[in-house]
Amino acid sequence: MIEPGATALLGPSGAGKSTLLRLLNRLAEPESGTVQFRGQDVRTLDVLDLRRRACLVPQLPALLPGSVVDNVRYGPRLAGRRADVRGALGLAGLGAPYAEREAGRLSVGEQQRVMLARALALEPRVLLLDEPTSALDEETSAGIERTLWDLQERLAVSTVLVTHDRGLAARLATRVVQLREGRLLATRATVM
Ligand SMILES: Nc1ncnc2c1ncn2[C@@H]1O[C@H](COP(=O)(O)OP(=O)(O)O)[C@@H](O)[C@H]1O
Ligand SMILES: [Mg+2]
Repeated sequence: MIEPGATALLGPSGAGKSTLLRLLNRLAEPESGTVQFRGQDVRTLDVLDLRRRACLVPQLPALLPGSVVDNVRYGPRLAGRRADVRGALGLAGLGAPYAEREAGRLSVGEQQRVMLARALALEPRVLLLDEPTSALDEETSAGIERTLWDLQERLAVSTVLVTHDRGLAARLATRVVQLREGRLLATRATVM
């Protein structure tokens, strides 16, 4: 049971952290057991709708060809909605001038923020963040961490944050779930 709020999934490489995130929005299917989202078996939900409500930001940026604004509009357009591009970019820590930039030419840190903006444009209830800072240098990583902190303060969005960084988990999450070799080792609350 993952409660509303900020949860960190902590564990060494290969522990099953990414797999657990993927189970939560049906990018993977369990061999046994069921996954429920707000009390409903995820298999009974429309899969695209589920992925908009529980939106995964992968470990490495994977942007579509085109501009930043093309990328941010893409998901909401599929859902027949208009995106608040400026709002999403702002929340992801990108100023309005980024909108027209070519997504593929941005730095990895900037691309990671565009991935975040894409997710936020869907107005998800849950953000599934897979090691959002692991590909980044210390300074860029600290910037993303501040952005994630602000999001949690400003939006009614729950986060499930995968990391192997205990410090990051303690700073950003109120609960830490520890995984090892595909099994749950411990769950504990962190002191904020
Ligand atoms: N669909 C799958 N079926 C079986 N094994 C898988 C599947 N997906 C991933 N794995 C394996 O599960 C283990 C955990 O992978 P992963 O969740 O990516 O770990 P982590 O993100 O904690 O580093 C790895 O050994 C991986 O090869
Ligand atoms: Mg992983």
